[in-house]
Amino acid sequence: MKQNYKDILLSPIKIGTRTCQNRFFVQAMECTDADQDGNPSELTIQRYENLFKGGYGMVTLEAITVTDESRSRKQQLSIMPRNAAKLRTFIQGLKKINPNVLIVFQLTHSGELSNPEFSKRVTVKPLPGFGGELLQEDDVEKIMEEFITAASIAYDAGADGVDLKLCHGYLGSQIIRPYNDRKWKYGGSWDNRSRFAFDLYERVNKKINDKNFLIGSKISMWEGFPGGFGTEGPDSPIIDLTEPLDLIKGLEDRGAQYFVESGGSPSITTAITQADKNAPYFAFLHNTWAKEIKKVVKPETVIIGSNFSVFGDGNNGILAVEKENNSMFHYGAKFIEEGKVDMIAVGRQSFADPFLPKKLSEGKENEISWCTLCDNCLELLIRQRTIGCCTYNKYYTDVLVNTRKECGRLKQKHT
Ligand SMILES: Cc1cc2nc3c(=O)[nH]c(=O)nc-3n(C[C@H](O)[C@H](O)[C@H](O)COP(=O)(O)O)c2cc1C
Ligand code: SF4
Repeated sequence: MKQNYKDILLSPIKIGTRTCQNRFFVQAMECTDADQDGNPSELTIQRYENLFKGGYGMVTLEAITVTDESRSRKQQLSIMPRNAAKLRTFIQGLKKINPNVLIVFQLTHSGELSNPEFSKRVTVKPLPGFGGELLQEDDVEKIMEEFITAASIAYDAGADGVDLKLCHGYLGSQIIRPYNDRKWKYGGSWDNRSRFAFDLYERVNKKINDKNFLIGSKISMWEGFPGGFGTEGPDSPIIDLTEPLDLIKGLEDRGAQYFVESGGSPSITTAITQADKNAPYFAFLHNTWAKEIKKVVKPETVIIGSNFSVFGDGNNGILAVEKENNSMFHYGAKFIEEGKVDMIAVGRQSFADPFLPKKLSEGKENEISWCTLCDNCLELLIRQRTIGCCTYNKYYTDVLVNTRKECGRLKQKHT
């Protein structure tokens, strides 16, 4: 590597008219700790305050639902008119802590991943094992309006932009995947399947009409099951990036300034979304997809690569590499220098150490708490508990211990 990794990772980058102070990007990480109206709670506020103190370049506000009607988690953050004032106060508080950190809201609708225990599961074409009420064209029109209202609320709250979520099996990705071969306005041909995303961008841009407000999307480049996005067709699991790359170019034409590369649909293909201890080298798939995206976008469009948590300090189970060439900092700086990615995203690592960029800039690398990939935080997500790092934060260790005790008791009761 020609330049020192620290210089590269801590160098600023422009996104549209805005500047990120460094190359560290915090992934959207749902923590199911909102209050009963979907507003940020004390726990939520504490999590984001730490990330702002930690000095990341850009932070994503976790998947925030545009509707109560169809949502995946009971204590999910929500973005409807009733949340506007609380969201504004929340963002003002964060900006006071560190005005240099950018924050974008990840707007979402859960579609067939909505939890039928407390909301309505809806689908564009029932996926085996999921299903739900079939969406009609006027339902999609209403959902589009909800997204536009949500984008306006984010703008008024002082967010720096939005991530119109097109990944991980939620509604945005359900519509674009080849499996949606139903003959309707939003299904079948690629023109029809891409209509929702393209129209949404045009309408959000028209409504906000401010070039300083960032618009982008997190996209699953390959969902990893037959008919998933990034496959050859409705019944093929084979990777074909034609549609994902066409989507990205189409969204760029409609004003997207950044993309977060991702993969998988975690309720089906978890290890593709977040490479785990058993297959850490899946992270290299993400590096490859980011490189493919970089080849087709304009030089100024910022590409953020996923799955960097896995690399950690180099002790990651990836074999046949020297430790110093196997770490997050090494791969991140190398891929940035080679033009394969512009920023590196951390999900679980942002739980493990919200202060990572600050520690790196202050020469305190040896104080960084590295994610152990135990995936206990994922267990808390699956069980819909309040989420955080169970390894380094005692509060969440206790949540995990109590949750397991409770689940054990429930199991005993039913046997
Ligand atoms: C507890 C938890 C919550 C997550 N919430 C979201 C979310 O709200 N939106 C999203 O796009 N991805 C979500 N993800 C996926 C992460 O953003 C990220 O794509 C994935 O963990 C890979 O990054 P990492 O290897 O750095 O953890 C979540 C993952 C976990 C473990
Ligand atoms: S709970 Fe485990 S996987 Fe999750 S952030 Fe902490 S160390 Fe990483």
